[in-house]
Amino acid sequence: MLTREEIQDLKRTDTSILGSLVKEHKSNGSYVINVLENLGRLPKQFDGSWLVDLLSSENEGIRFLVVKNMGKLSNESYLPLLSKVAKDDTDTNVRREAVSAIGRMRKSNLKQILFDKLKDADPKVVCQAIRGLLVFKGEVEVDERLKQLINHQNEMVVAVIRKEFFATGNIKIEQAHTESYNYLKNVAVHGDTIETMNLLKDESIHLTFTSPPYYNARDYSIYPSYKCYLEFLRNVFNEVYRITKEGRFLVLNTSPVIVPRVSRSQLIFLSESLMQNWKTKTFLAIGINPFFLILI
Ligand SMILES: C[S@@+](CC[C@H](N)C(=O)[O-])C[C@H]1O[C@@H](n2cnc3c(N)ncnc32)[C@H](O)[C@@H]1O
Repeated sequence: MLTREEIQDLKRTDTSILGSLVKEHKSNGSYVINVLENLGRLPKQFDGSWLVDLLSSENEGIRFLVVKNMGKLSNESYLPLLSKVAKDDTDTNVRREAVSAIGRMRKSNLKQILFDKLKDADPKVVCQAIRGLLVFKGEVEVDERLKQLINHQNEMVVAVIRKEFFATGNIKIEQAHTESYNYLKNVAVHGDTIETMNLLKDESIHLTFTSPPYYNARDYSIYPSYKCYLEFLRNVFNEVYRITKEGRFLVLNTSPVIVPRVSRSQLIFLSESLMQNWKTKTFLAIGINPFFLILI
């Protein structure tokens, strides 16, 4: 096994020997991993051609480290390979590392690859693509694509987008607490609740009264799973929280009987997730059946 110092020396003096040694010990996973882990910073002229073969390794740890080292090189000639890995690798960490490597190149012509990765099934990969695209924040297309993710089913993705585009921190409240904006008076809006609330200013609403959709009791309930349903409601109530004035109210008309034989804990899950932040704004849940719950 090579020591870290030997690897560092070979890296600086003769990369091809390093490549040959790795090739020779290809079947020895720990040998290869040891080299890949100890490469450290790579000089610009580093010849990484011997890394390419290792991308077909069955060992996902090796593939991960190969991609990581390719990323350090920031060399566009590896792009087709990295895109393929980002698209096809079976391991999430490897895919994510490939997206990270592409993002770190900070090249405008690579945005489309990152846009495609926003649709990845794994939220960690999506978050990595977001990170890469945030370099271009302020560009209309990038902002539009990213803002759409406020409706993403994963909370991690929503949290990032909320922070970047819908953050409530450091907002300046422009009106007296008791007042309301005229543009909100005597107005009925027909639209998606989250999209509509996105248009409202922070801390602009005194009272929200809502009877949210049921999970599966009516045909407008189109949620693929109970988890997705709760995610939807979480996103809704995060927005309600944002637009509610300090000390003002949300009244929630709800029922714990969402699925057959539901336990009380399922309603508590919903209310707990709502209550986390609702400290100085009041949350009131009223039930529409005997299991009603009032929280003030
Ligand atoms: C339990 S019902 C409440 C009905 C309401 N109280 C009324 O009197 O019309 C839930 C309503 O939410 C609507 N809804 C479901 N998803 C929505 C969304 N994303 N944006 C806006 N409304 C939605 C449904 O169409 C349904 O009319």
